[in-house]
Amino acid sequence: MKLIAANWKMHKTPSEAREYVNKFLELYEAKQGREVLICPPFTSLCAVQETLEGSEIKLGAQNCYYEKEGAFTGEVSLKFLKELGCSYVIVGHSERRHIFGESDEIINKKVVACLEEGIRPIICVGEKLEEREAGITFKVIENQLRLALSGVENYTDRVDIAYEPVWAIGTGMPATPQDAVAVHRFIRDLIKVLNPESGMNFRVLYGGSVKPDNAKEFTKYREIDGFLVGGASLKPETFIEIVNAFKDVN
Ligand code: PGA
Repeated sequence: MKLIAANWKMHKTPSEAREYVNKFLELYEAKQGREVLICPPFTSLCAVQETLEGSEIKLGAQNCYYEKEGAFTGEVSLKFLKELGCSYVIVGHSERRHIFGESDEIINKKVVACLEEGIRPIICVGEKLEEREAGITFKVIENQLRLALSGVENYTDRVDIAYEPVWAIGTGMPATPQDAVAVHRFIRDLIKVLNPESGMNFRVLYGGSVKPDNAKEFTKYREIDGFLVGGASLKPETFIEIVNAFKDVN
């Protein structure tokens, strides 16, 4: 099943979120073979959850902390997110890695905590421009993925992966579908090595400047299991177009 996820980042107050979801639900047509996910900021999770009530659209968070509770000022645990109805959490987004200095070790702890809590992590990986230019894209992806999944390699059917080249995020310059497909194949092959028993029950999403006018092109490739959408998910009218790009795809 394809997964199309909206990452609102630090946008939308609870009232703005309610307005968005109401509009989106008017435009949304349920279709088999695709799952839609909205990841608002923590402070709008409740508003989105209440407004989505009764719909099949899923709720997710953009980040989490790996401890269950305790003296961790400002942090939000998976136990809290679960009670709010979150079934997904984005882990290791490039902005977490590069603006907030999140290490591979922390990302791994978050992945482990998600699995313990029964919340599906969307693990983000992606190379920087200088790494692509140096020809080490696959090496970077392999390293990030091996470390993120360290100790939980047998549970790859409980995670999804988002390939988001750092240079494509928020720049209006997406990867070409061919370049994305090459990395998606590499990720699948790597997971087969890490977990030979894996039933391939995970998805590899593409993220980075996905827009209504380029989404369809990506959907032609079976390696693209969905999208993680930032900027273009902020308006219901554009996000629905991206969701509908998968209309006829299984
Ligand atoms: P973008 O962001 O669609 O605005 O490039 C994607 C992401 O950061 O997940």
